[in-house]
Amino acid sequence: MMRAMPSVTESQIVTLVDAFYAKVRRDEVLAPIFERAIAPDAWPVHLAKMHDFWSSVMLTSGRYKGNPLAVHMRLDGIEPSMFVRWLALFRATAEELFPSELAASFRDKSERIAESLKLGLFYRPGLHGLKIVPQNPT
Ligand code: HEM
Repeated sequence: MMRAMPSVTESQIVTLVDAFYAKVRRDEVLAPIFERAIAPDAWPVHLAKMHDFWSSVMLTSGRYKGNPLAVHMRLDGIEPSMFVRWLALFRATAEELFPSELAASFRDKSERIAESLKLGLFYRPGLHGLKIVPQNPT
């Protein structure tokens, strides 16, 4: 079901992104993937990119220009089950910080994007016997 997008500010996006990646860096499963890909002094660059990404997603600001699928394809050790963990952390962070309607809006977006990343990364036609179920357009 489509729901009207509650309003969100750039500063709320920065707060969420920074709190989320602080948790990711302490997560025993996710942290090693990020440590291999992002040098300690490159974190400000990653966070700035993620502010742009979520601003583009939530406010259609168009600030993010990139190819997330290509970037995740190069990651060493990324597995389907890690998405469950990533999404749970993201959801918990949004729910800590925001009223439930806004938190739900971030969660919906994150789940749809994760689904499309997972398909791009792991789906091999004929291998898993997956059935593709059409989803509502974002
Ligand atoms: C298992 C789940 C995930 C893992 C382990 C993961 C890991 C990473 C890592 C390590 C990077 C930095 C790559 C680099 O700079 O070389 C990255 C970038 C990024 N991730 Fe993820 N990610 C996951 C899921 C997601 C999801 C669900 C989203 C979106 C909702 C997302 C959005 C992005 C974006 C936009 C970038 C920046 C890509 C660019 O450089 O343009 N990721 N991710």
